[in-house]
Amino acid sequence: MTLTLDENQKRLVEAAAAARLRSVAPFSKFLVGAAVETKEGKIYTGCNIESASYGLTVCAERVAIWKAISEGERNLTNLAVVVDTEPLTPPCGTCRQIMWEFCNDGYIILANLDGHAEQLAIGDLQPRAFDARFLELKRK
Ligand code: THU
Repeated sequence: MTLTLDENQKRLVEAAAAARLRSVAPFSKFLVGAAVETKEGKIYTGCNIESASYGLTVCAERVAIWKAISEGERNLTNLAVVVDTEPLTPPCGTCRQIMWEFCNDGYIILANLDGHAEQLAIGDLQPRAFDARFLELKRK
């Protein structure tokens, strides 16, 4: 089902679509853009960046999150990802983990260039997630 975007969601999707154009994907030719917003409404963007040593490639979502965190942000909420696919492209498992740890009470909007969009709760994407709480548990 296509989500009707409000002004704030539109702003986030547009920022992700603009970041997608800066994607460095000479190997997959799969262009991905992401944008994450802080609780105060500031947006940080990212694109996927591929390495000739393929496994070193980083996804757009993590680039956006790392940019925000490295600028001192700690209260990240919603994220938008734009890939021109039908059906909409969901985030990979590694990015789900990072989103769980850094924006877990937010939503992710998946969108393509035809105006098709869907919103999912980040907390629903990583069932029984591992996080810092487990580091506090008594170890045997
Ligand atoms: N990719 C992302 O940037 N985000 C996703 O959610 C899925 C995959 C990138 C990684 C790689 O550059 C390309 O898409 C193909 O896997």
